[in-house]
Amino acid sequence: MSSSSATHLIIFLLCLLVAAVSATDHIVGANKGWNPGVNYTLWANNHTFYVGDLISFRYQKTQYNVFEVNQTGYDNCTTEGAVGNWSSGKDFIPLNKARRYYFICGNGGCFSGMKVLVVVHPLPSPSNAAVAADHSSTKSAAASVVGGAAMVMPLLVMASIWFGSGWI
Ligand SMILES: *[C@@H]1O[C@H](CO)[C@@H](O)[C@H](O)[C@H]1NC(C)=O
Ligand SMILES: *[C@@H]1O[C@H](CO)[C@@H](O)[C@H](O)[C@H]1NC(C)=O
Ligand SMILES: *[C@@H]1O[C@H](CO)[C@@H](O)[C@H](O)[C@H]1NC(C)=O
Ligand SMILES: *[C@@H]1O[C@H](CO)[C@@H](O)[C@H](O)[C@H]1NC(C)=O
Ligand SMILES: *[C@@H]1O[C@H](CO)[C@@H](O)[C@H](O)[C@H]1NC(C)=O
Repeated sequence: MSSSSATHLIIFLLCLLVAAVSATDHIVGANKGWNPGVNYTLWANNHTFYVGDLISFRYQKTQYNVFEVNQTGYDNCTTEGAVGNWSSGKDFIPLNKARRYYFICGNGGCFSGMKVLVVVHPLPSPSNAAVAADHSSTKSAAASVVGGAAMVMPLLVMASIWFGSGWI
């Protein structure tokens, strides 16, 4: 391997590492959870969402649920053409694309404010990574576990490049 392609690989792996470490679980509504009468626009405005983050909804599963809809569904509280639905009461939904995600409660709660629009941004470039890491101060245990597992491989790869031990 030429030293320049090794450099590129290392930069790429560092990006992966940053992505894994900074994946954040955004708990919708924070300690208010997913319930009527919460302004989720205010909640979302207080968060920055990046590709690879999770959003999680916590609620009474006998009363509410979560539907991913399009803008029409969000504006009008309708679930026609829904992309997905969840009802476990503790739903973790990965935000895998840089796009707008619209979530509503599908059994009436939407009309009492249970709707949230999330704008997911592309991962920041490495020079901005410190800023992204700052946003991750509310990382949950679940997100840390996911990140921890994802960290191991790149670390091994980098170690074997740096120390030339020929593990892989
Ligand atoms: C939520 O707060 C925003 C910003 O203050 C406001 O524009 C919006 O009307 C509020 N939404 C509801 C449902 O109260
Ligand atoms: C926004 O975040 C700050 C700091 O975490 C918190 O104190 C505040 O209550 C949040 N506001 C809303 C509307 O979630
Ligand atoms: C909401 O529904 C009304 C009619 O029910 C429709 O005219 C309007 O276009 C819908 N909103 C959006 C954003 O499509
Ligand atoms: C949302 O989906 C419904 C049902 O499939 C469709 O009629 C509507 O045009 C879609 N709205 C947007 C903004 O894509
Ligand atoms: C919820 O999602 C499942 C697939 O995950 C689908 O089969 C079902 O029809 C959906 N329910 C509604 C009400 O859209």
